[in-house]
Amino acid sequence: MIPFVDLKSQYTSIKSEVNAAIQGVLDSCQFTLGSEVAAFEEEFAAYCHSKHGIGVNSGTSALHLALLAAGIGPGDEVITVPFTFVATVAAIHYSGAKTVFVDIDPRTFTMDVGGIEAAITPKTKAILPVHLYGQPADMDPILEIAKRHGLVVIEDAAQAHGAEYKGRRAGSIGEMGCFSFYPGKNLGAYGEGGMVTTANADYARTLRMLRDWGAERKYEHVLKGYNYRLEGIQGAVLRVKLRRLEAWTEGRRAAAAHYDRLFSGGVVQTPAAMPYSRHVYHIYAIRTAQRQAWQDALQKQGIQTGIHYPIPVHLLPAYADLGYQRGQFPHAEKAAAEVLSLPMFPELTAAQCETVASAVKGLAAREPVAGLA
Ligand SMILES: Cc1ncc(COP(=O)(O)O)c(C=O)c1O
Repeated sequence: MIPFVDLKSQYTSIKSEVNAAIQGVLDSCQFTLGSEVAAFEEEFAAYCHSKHGIGVNSGTSALHLALLAAGIGPGDEVITVPFTFVATVAAIHYSGAKTVFVDIDPRTFTMDVGGIEAAITPKTKAILPVHLYGQPADMDPILEIAKRHGLVVIEDAAQAHGAEYKGRRAGSIGEMGCFSFYPGKNLGAYGEGGMVTTANADYARTLRMLRDWGAERKYEHVLKGYNYRLEGIQGAVLRVKLRRLEAWTEGRRAAAAHYDRLFSGGVVQTPAAMPYSRHVYHIYAIRTAQRQAWQDALQKQGIQTGIHYPIPVHLLPAYADLGYQRGQFPHAEKAAAEVLSLPMFPELTAAQCETVASAVKGLAAREPVAGLA
């Protein structure tokens, strides 16, 4: 049995330290925010090469508050991609703004920068690229377009802790970066969590108020805020795990490199790591036109896989009101039909990669030759 992710073995490897950290929070009774969260905010912001970190209760909340801090609301438009987890679009909806999609680049699964300018209108306020699967979007052209049109750039870095674009860390490239610490993420809490990173002190101050009822000081509510605070226990757990994140990321990158080698020769379409990026492989997605058959066959061989994500957001019933139709974002639609995420976690062994790869190659070899089917 090869699991898709293995949170249990990771917990086992850090159990005594995590348990002691949780006990410390119980003893201090600092259950929401508090000193462990404050220390984690500093440490994670430094890890991202950013100045301020504002801990919140999820990645979705991070995106929501980043949009509000940028002054985005009803009547505004935000440009993002339809090939993402639904939360990216939900957060734009929470802000009151309208989502405007551009397609993805099929090589990287991230925003097609060539499509941005055509999507800009006088109502556009922000561009929200998603560093999907752990690889940063092509940020330089995005920043250049944003600058020319006076737009804010907010990174959805929920899957990209420690990822780099031309040496710059995810979360330090746009005006704000939004992270998720959902348990299965590269840096995962033991519950929910998220963070906004920013170099801008004004945004940081606004974000700190917004996550805690808009209060400047207790009961002095300056803004209409939210209860989006990060819990003390999550801060303590995340501090322990952050100390291992680089080693875990290298474990993921080694597993991905091993998969790449095993699949070399072109029988299986593997994910492209661009020369500009340090890909942190939250997900290692191959592509196949026979996805359902492959997933079922792998499951029978004890290999768990995932699909991220089977329906692009513009075709989800929940967002039908955005008015998009099938066929408008062909690369996103094709990716959604073909991607298959292979087991990927830091502790994945070379032998496990080899078992997965030989099973996948066995399936690829059975496929009819194009044109003869
Ligand atoms: C790309 C992306 N954006 C946003 C989120 C939302 O994060 P959370 O689940 O912590 O709210 C996630 C993860 O779930 C994600 O993968």
